[in-house]
Formats: sequence, structure tokens, C-alpha cells
Amino acid sequence: MSAKPLKIAVAGLGTVGAEVVRILAADAGLLTARAGRPIQVTDVSARNRAKDRGVDLSAYTWHDDAAQMAANADVDLVVELVGGADGAAHAVVRNALAAGRHVVTANKAMLAKHGVALAAQAEDGGRILAYEAAVAGGIPVVKALREGLAGNRVSGISGILNGTCNFILTTMRETGRSFGDVLKEAQDLGYAEADPAFDIDGNDAGQKLAIMASIAFGIPVDEQAVYLEGITSVSADDIAFADELGYRIKLLGIARQTDAGIEQRVHPVMIDRTAPLGQIEGVTNAVQLEGSAVGSIVLTGPGAGAGATASSVLSDLVDIAAGRSSPTFGIPHGQLRKLPAAPLERLVSAFYLRLMVWDKPGVIANVAGALGRHGVSLESVLQRGRDPGEVVPVVMVLHECEERAIRASLSEIEQLDSVAEKPTLIRIAGR
Ligand SMILES: NC(=O)c1ccc[n+]([C@@H]2O[C@H](COP(=O)([O-])OP(=O)(O)OC[C@H]3O[C@@H](n4cnc5c(N)ncnc54)[C@H](OP(=O)(O)O)[C@@H]3O)[C@@H](O)[C@H]2O)c1
Repeated sequence: MSAKPLKIAVAGLGTVGAEVVRILAADAGLLTARAGRPIQVTDVSARNRAKDRGVDLSAYTWHDDAAQMAANADVDLVVELVGGADGAAHAVVRNALAAGRHVVTANKAMLAKHGVALAAQAEDGGRILAYEAAVAGGIPVVKALREGLAGNRVSGISGILNGTCNFILTTMRETGRSFGDVLKEAQDLGYAEADPAFDIDGNDAGQKLAIMASIAFGIPVDEQAVYLEGITSVSADDIAFADELGYRIKLLGIARQTDAGIEQRVHPVMIDRTAPLGQIEGVTNAVQLEGSAVGSIVLTGPGAGAGATASSVLSDLVDIAAGRSSPTFGIPHGQLRKLPAAPLERLVSAFYLRLMVWDKPGVIANVAGALGRHGVSLESVLQRGRDPGEVVPVVMVLHECEERAIRASLSEIEQLDSVAEKPTLIRIAGR
């Protein structure tokens, strides 16, 4: 007697949805063996029925309204691959859970905004809300954190969580070109959206970080708690100076549990070029996790793309079909506890400071004076050549200090006549 199939409806048949449907058909035998029963698509929905999606949809019932499908189709599970924090995607997920169906989604924006409420709805109804694809695409980091490291107190997460930003920073270094120029190339290659703000301002990485921090620290997901600084002010000069100093510049998402509270931050970081995350180039993502028992582990792989993202969606489908599940964020939603946030101004870090200054005598002494007044000490100064009377970059590497000390120094430095532009400050990791 063959086992009862897991019947599923797929909402959204774009890049990811169409690939999920394709692989479910192409690898049905393998997936059935792994799940212990068939995973059978019965219903699908997207906006445009006439669109050719490169997959045969003729065997499935088509729905023009995805939210109605989620509520009414005779299925065990709904896969939400529409996208967007609210609107149709949110309606699909709420309707599916209300109707007693499990949900698999790749939607980080929705989870970062509504994760706690949706986890409550799922768990109170005895249903599963699975979202491996929402964080770092094809890297199974949700599973690693929630199941793989279940025996650890996780103290830290650092990740390259946005492939677009890493591609831009890598290409700037390899070619010496400017941020704007490389952003345009990323858009032409389809790595960056026409409106790139969501990626380059750090929002996308922040949402993924908030989800991981919830699992790691047992806190409610809160994207508003993530401090965001994007990569738009990183210049070709900064990248070249970083190289000279032995660093790479990466946009990192960092979440840590410290004595001062929970840190959640996304910002450019200078990181040793031989460190695991310092070596990640191009669109690749990577996540480094620190566990009390295991120590440090690093997971690397594609953070986006049809196949990579479908891989994670399929992993969730096989788990649910096989009867494997965990609470949405690792512990039951009622046990998630808000913990105090560590104030950024108390963060201790070494810093890279780039000033654009008029090349005249006494400039560096004035800057060093402002730093010294706030207890910030200089490790080294780099200046390329001299150009009397012109604006030149001066780079300072600063010893570890609290963020508030460097901020106070900067407010004085910005007032100096010899300083021509707003200074660029980049935190240096691991020193
Ligand atoms: N693409 C990636 O590499 C990637 C990686 C990680 C996570 N994700 C996440 O995966 C999800 C899907 O992304 P995607 O790249 O596959 O997006 P996509 O290519 O834009 O596909 C979205 C799909 O949703 C359908 N849709 C849009 N509005 C709808 C509505 N109101 N009702 C019903 N269907 C609607 C679209 O229909 P039409 O086709 O008819 O227009 C399309 O099929 C998002 O949450 C995204 O953040 C994507």
C-alpha cells in the first residue's frame, strides 16, 4: 500500500515557484523516497495565467486568486512564493494557516515583519511554518541554527547575507572602479534591482539577520531592532586602502549576545582577507556561527537564484512530508523573550577612518588632537603622495575604542577647516 501523498498548492510561479514545481515533477521518485510519501502539486496560482513559465502546469488546478486558493483548495500545505511583506503573500499565509494547512515560504520580508504573529498562528493551530529559503537562499542555515546547533548556546552570527552587495564590493576591488559604475553593471547583469536601495542600504541583510537572531537567542523577530548602514559610502579609495592594510571590505550582518545585551547590526566591515568571511567573493553568501559546544562553523553557498532557493523550499517540503518539525523559531512562540539591546555607542571596535583633507601642514596634528581628547589612539596613518594645496585622502587606523568616543571625535574633526568632506568610518572586525 503506498503512503498518502502530501498535497500541496503553490502560490507564485516566478523564478523560485516555477523551479520548485519543475523539480517536484522531475525528481518525484527521489523526493518520495526521502519523504516516505509523494509530494504532489495539485493547485497553482500566479497573476498571469497565459505566461509561459517553462514548466507544464496542465495537470494542476489554476487559481487566479492565490489567497482564495490558500483558503479553499483541498491541500495539506501551501507554498508561498509571491513575495512582499504584506498584500497577497501575507493573505496567502494567513488564510492557509487559518484553514489548517502547513506553510512553506521563502519570504524574509514577511517573516521579519509578521514572523511572531505568524508563528503564533501556526503553532496554536498545530501547523508548521517553514522558511529555510528566506535566509541565505540555498544555504541551510535555518536548519543549522535550529536543529544542527540545538545543543549549543549560540553567542554570535556573522554573515555575508546579500549577494548584490558582495558582488559590488568584490568587483570594485578587482577593477578599481567606483561604486556607481559597478552598481550599474550589477543591474545590467540582473544581480541588482532597478531600485537597489533595499539591497545596498542593508535592509535585505537586516531582515535575514533578524530571523537568525530570533532562532539563535530565543527573541521575537524584530527587524526594527537591527542597526543598518549600507555600502553607498564605500569608495574605490577605501577598497584600495583596505587591500594595502590586508583587509577586505564586506557588508556583514552581525548578531551577538553580549553582557551589554543583544547586538543586531548590518554595516560595512574591514575583515582580514584570510578570514573565512574575508575570502567570500562575488554573489556568494556565507554565515559564521559561534556555538558554545561546537566553536565556530562557516556555511558558504549561493544566497539566491532559482535552483538554490528551490533547494531550500524542497528541504522544507520533504521535512514536513516526513513528519519532521520544530517550533517556528526554535522554541515555542510563547517562550520567545525580548532581551535588552546592546547600545551601539558602547560597541568596542578598532576603526578605519578616511579623511579628505587639504594638503597643508598641521592637518594630521589637528585630527590627532581631536581623537586624543576623546581617548582614541592612533595605530597608523597612511597617506599616498603629497599634493600641496589640493584635497588628498588620509587614512588612520585607530586602536579599539567605544563607538561613542570615535563619534565624539568625529564631530570635532568634521568642523576642522582642513577637512574637505564628511569622513568615512569603517569598523575593523576581530581586533
Ligand atoms: N529569486 C531569488 O533568488 C530568491 C532568493 C531567496 C528568496 N526569494 C524569495 O522568494 C519569493 C519569490 O521570489 P521570486 O524571485 O520567485 O519572485 P518572482 O519571480 O517575482 O515571482 C513572483 C510570483 O508571484 C506571482 N504573484 C505576484 N503577485 C501576485 C498576486 N497578487 N497573486 C498571485 N500571484 C502573484 C507572480 O505572478 P506572475 O508570474 O503571473 O507575474 C510570480 O509568479 C520572494 O519572497 C523572494 O524574496 C527569492
